[in-house]
Amino acid sequence: MEKRRRVLITIDIPEIGVEILKKYCQVDVNTKEMNLSKEEIMDRLGDKQALCCGAEDVIDAEVMDSAPNLKIIARYGVGYDNVDVEAATQRRILVTNTPGVLTETVAEMTLCLLLSLARRIVEADSFIRKGQLKRSAPKSLLGIEIRDKILGIIGAGRIGTAVAKKSEGFHMKIFYYDLLENKKLEKMGAKKVELDYLLEHSDFVSLHVSLTDKTTHLIGERELGLMKSTAYLINTSRGKVVDEAALVKALEKNRIAGAALDVYENEPQVTKKLLNMRNVVLTPHIGSATKEARDKMSIMVAEDCITALKGEKPPHLVNTEVLK
Ligand code: DGY
Repeated sequence: MEKRRRVLITIDIPEIGVEILKKYCQVDVNTKEMNLSKEEIMDRLGDKQALCCGAEDVIDAEVMDSAPNLKIIARYGVGYDNVDVEAATQRRILVTNTPGVLTETVAEMTLCLLLSLARRIVEADSFIRKGQLKRSAPKSLLGIEIRDKILGIIGAGRIGTAVAKKSEGFHMKIFYYDLLENKKLEKMGAKKVELDYLLEHSDFVSLHVSLTDKTTHLIGERELGLMKSTAYLINTSRGKVVDEAALVKALEKNRIAGAALDVYENEPQVTKKLLNMRNVVLTPHIGSATKEARDKMSIMVAEDCITALKGEKPPHLVNTEVLK
């Protein structure tokens, strides 16, 4: 393929995919630590035919209209809530994502956060670093066992299911809330329940929904009020699923026991008050951050861009109707 094919990659993805792309097209990668603003994306996109974007880039109709030759928007990640798919379809632009390859990685991260909350790992780490280890203290830094505790999974798709499977190994009981019955979960003995029931009874509530109009602020003041005061909230999905101000209030008032957040309502900003809370674990949107997953995602976006530029159907097409 001629090198007049050009792709903009707005985030610094692993080299493996960039190298594949370089064999077919000219590649412009944003290697800076900062996200590109919308204006910068439009400037750099120009007459390029392919765009590979991150979770925080807003790819709307205006961006699409600024790039007359754009054929494909390849989302480096599974969630594509930041891309106006309808606008892309109207303009016959292909939209792809990277499903499947990060499922286990995100599920492992969820369990990691759950265990960190249960055993107060972040507090314990800072205890040591601050030189506070003076003597054995049988009553300090007490956590809770997760065995026999109820894990409430909101959103029983690929990742929610993988989380359930892993937590089964820890002998947790699973409740799940989803519009559809999940046969795999039912077979494991997980119970499909209504959202309020899940919130009222779970010891850990873990969010695995994609961001839509319906899931924006799915967890707000009312929902947090339903949770047990001993319960923990874990969010590895999208920040906007939780009303962060309501969460901060619930934590301040000890309405719930704690929270672990990998995503934030106004990412990359984090509500300042969260930073000083002892019972909160905060990570920087690293749910899919393993070498294995990130490399595979990089290969996938490269394959999707190349096939699209060749005029073929990319393997991970989201808006299949665009081909009709
Ligand atoms: C995803 O895959 O959607 C992750 O959140 C990374 O963007």
